[in-house]
Amino acid sequence: MIFAIETSCDETSCAVYDEQRHQLLSNIIFSQIDLHQYYGGVIPELASHAQLEKITSVAQEALSKAKKTLFDINTVAVTYKPGLPGSLLVGVAFAKALAWAQQKPIIGVNHLEGHVFSASIEHDIPFPYLCITASGGHTSLYIVHNFGDMQLIGQTIDDAAGEAFDKVAKLIGLAYPGGPIIEKLAREVHFQDFFHYPRSMPHSLDFSFSGLKTAVLYHLVEKNYYDLATKKLLPSCSYEIKQQVASSLLVCMKDIFIQKIALAIKHHPNIQAIALVGGVACNKYLKEHLANYAHAHQLSFFSPSPLLCTDNAGMIAFVAGYKMKQGKFSDQTLDVFDR
Ligand code: KG4
Ligand code: ZN
Repeated sequence: MIFAIETSCDETSCAVYDEQRHQLLSNIIFSQIDLHQYYGGVIPELASHAQLEKITSVAQEALSKAKKTLFDINTVAVTYKPGLPGSLLVGVAFAKALAWAQQKPIIGVNHLEGHVFSASIEHDIPFPYLCITASGGHTSLYIVHNFGDMQLIGQTIDDAAGEAFDKVAKLIGLAYPGGPIIEKLAREVHFQDFFHYPRSMPHSLDFSFSGLKTAVLYHLVEKNYYDLATKKLLPSCSYEIKQQVASSLLVCMKDIFIQKIALAIKHHPNIQAIALVGGVACNKYLKEHLANYAHAHQLSFFSPSPLLCTDNAGMIAFVAGYKMKQGKFSDQTLDVFDR
């Protein structure tokens, strides 16, 4: 029985996972969205403080939902990187204390490995497969050869995909996080491409999203919807315009993802499937289009259910499950920085 902790950013999450039966018995997630919404993004100092405030009650809830006690736990798993150092420290210190008090082994898990294998909790995905990790902090392409064996073939050179949704949403006065709202507005205008934003770096497996945000900004300025001098949205930017920006952005994102997948398939023709994971994988429009593309190329498509897409300890527990079998344990020197 594995007890897992995830506190890398603005979610406090604990999970209990039965590695023998491959069953996630609980996966409790406390999101700090309400705390950061006012600022339009995550404030690290507030995030770590809220982690400390919540960690004990979330841990207790995870145990009681799983109908287990600390005495049933044989291993403690925790996200140790990458993330906000202050937030990570809360989880790592809590995990080390728990493992020490219970005299149990500890396994440090890389947050990105957690996201990559989040799709394997509910699905048997044939190896090798292409995994697209798209969240607020990361956007990467991996060829996954086996559990714990992944090859990075492309990544963003600046902003992450979720960050692009969040930044454009902020630009046009929408709430944080931007992704779900952008999708809602885009749906209202049937996912039309009004503004044809640039699909950058079509011949590379790397992504660049900061140029896309700038392209949206300059288009808004050009049309007199945004004042660059005061950095303020003008009243002329109506709800209809916001819908059109949202829709054009989402269609552009979809095209960028499909471009990268096409290129990845060309470079790695042996892949058996495609998986989309991370917070952005909550997007139904993206999932539908990527699934259609995969099926048209005789590949299966997988994506985790929404609770496993955003940050959660369930995915950390799953990775710890195979690391345990591989004998890959950490110890009390586990730290949030590589040494
Ligand atoms: O994985 P996650 O919870 O946190 C990170 O590790 O970053 O992802 C959060 C990101 C946010 O940027 C949010 O805007 C995006 O996922 N997101 C979405 C949707 N739901 C969440 N992006 C696009 N469409 C959505 N429906
Ligand atoms: Zn994440």
